[in-house]
Amino acid sequence: MIKSCTNNQSEILQGILELNELHKFDADLTYGNGMFYKDIPEPDFKFDIDPQKDDVIEASSTNVPAVDGAFQSVVFDPPFLTYIKQAREHGSVMAKRFGGYWRYEELADHYQQTLIEAHRILTDKGILVFKCQDIVHNHKLHPTHINIVDWAAGLFRLKDLFVLSANHRMPMPEKQGEAKRKQKHSRIYHSYFMVLEKQ
Ligand SMILES: C[S@@+](CC[C@H](N)C(=O)[O-])C[C@H]1O[C@@H](n2cnc3c(N)ncnc32)[C@H](O)[C@@H]1O
Repeated sequence: MIKSCTNNQSEILQGILELNELHKFDADLTYGNGMFYKDIPEPDFKFDIDPQKDDVIEASSTNVPAVDGAFQSVVFDPPFLTYIKQAREHGSVMAKRFGGYWRYEELADHYQQTLIEAHRILTDKGILVFKCQDIVHNHKLHPTHINIVDWAAGLFRLKDLFVLSANHRMPMPEKQGEAKRKQKHSRIYHSYFMVLEKQ
């Protein structure tokens, strides 16, 4: 039985393939180091804005070198952090290479532009597997997985939703004196795999 919640990323990816009767994903827009493909077959097309391997094509997820309707399934696992120092210092493209954004608006813009591009390169009823995580930014919760459903309106419907729980997180630096605040939000120990079906 395929469960909606686990601490094993490979189990989720295998479950998505099985439920959608796929042997492998056609393309990955943010291939990174290819950790997703530890236990499942590699995708046919690998893209990333900052390729780490020779067979990965350098491309932004907002401008993929593929014709309309090229793929039946596409994977997207973008950075999810904001207030990354390098983002402020180097501007958005470099910031993405460093794994995050400065403001939440920048994250929102990247995600929205990629939803439009993914819609273009997918076949009818094709699926976009979108990994994301909610964040607390500027003392406010940004429920990214809910925002994605809003941003995808008219392009995709949410077909399935998986929760990946984390056993551990990087310890937070201990703040002292005035900087030490009372905890206001739960520490986020989960991320999502959203399966979005092209409308
Ligand atoms: C969380 S990592 C992906 C990890 C990957 N799933 C793996 O298994 O190794 C995010 C990736 O998104 C890439 N990236 C950031 N902005 C991008 C953009 N606009 N277009 C394509 N890739 C981008 C980064 O270079 C990075 O490799």
